Amino acid sequence: MILLGDEFPNFEAETTEGSIKFHEFLNESWGILFSHPADFTPVCTTELARLIKLHPEFAKRNVKIIALSCDSVENHKKWFEDIKKYAQCKAEDVFPYPIIADEQRKLAVQLSMLDPNEKDSAGLPLTARAVFIVDQNKKLRLSILYPATTGRNFDEILRVVDSLQITDKFQIATPADWKQGDNVMVQPSVPMEEAQVLFPMMSEMALPSGLKYLRQTPQPKIN
Ligand code: BEZ
Repeated sequence: MILLGDEFPNFEAETTEGSIKFHEFLNESWGILFSHPADFTPVCTTELARLIKLHPEFAKRNVKIIALSCDSVENHKKWFEDIKKYAQCKAEDVFPYPIIADEQRKLAVQLSMLDPNEKDSAGLPLTARAVFIVDQNKKLRLSILYPATTGRNFDEILRVVDSLQITDKFQIATPADWKQGDNVMVQPSVPMEEAQVLFPMMSEMALPSGLKYLRQTPQPKIN
């Protein structure tokens, strides 16, 4: 079981872009690993197509994408054509990210991604829809596990990347349903005098408790 803040395993895997070691694949980038139950399945196809569309948005944030499914490289490459069709790509477009072939469920077991309730035609368990966000120091920053029957919301995953990256730079936290440009919260650990210097536009909400922990400020500029 990997906990938030732990170093993500430097696993070796076969992918549609050849053999990789995960840390070398990431190099200086952030990374997101998305697991999938199986090739040629409807929800997975919609998800991987959405990732094609969003690939430039992840690249802008210095995030490399890698997917995983419990099938062979050969099958993944055949599936590419269906995914590209669903994403309305041209047949000649290059598939923009690799997919890991985890036929033996080695990574699925190592990263606790198996869903015992979902099985393939041979009765072997399939992976659930895991999301692992890893930062440029190779630390796990977020993990979510969705069941096979629920496709992920990729706008939410981009939103989390934005939150992680901005809260790494400033002593702030992003509130419920925050999106780029909304006000943010000053972290409770910042003493009031320091907060007033760091965030001159900060406002405190008067609360029945009398405590001054609800301190909002405009979102600082990332660059
Ligand atoms: C799908 O991707 O559509 C799917 C895969 C496994 C179980 C249910 C749905």
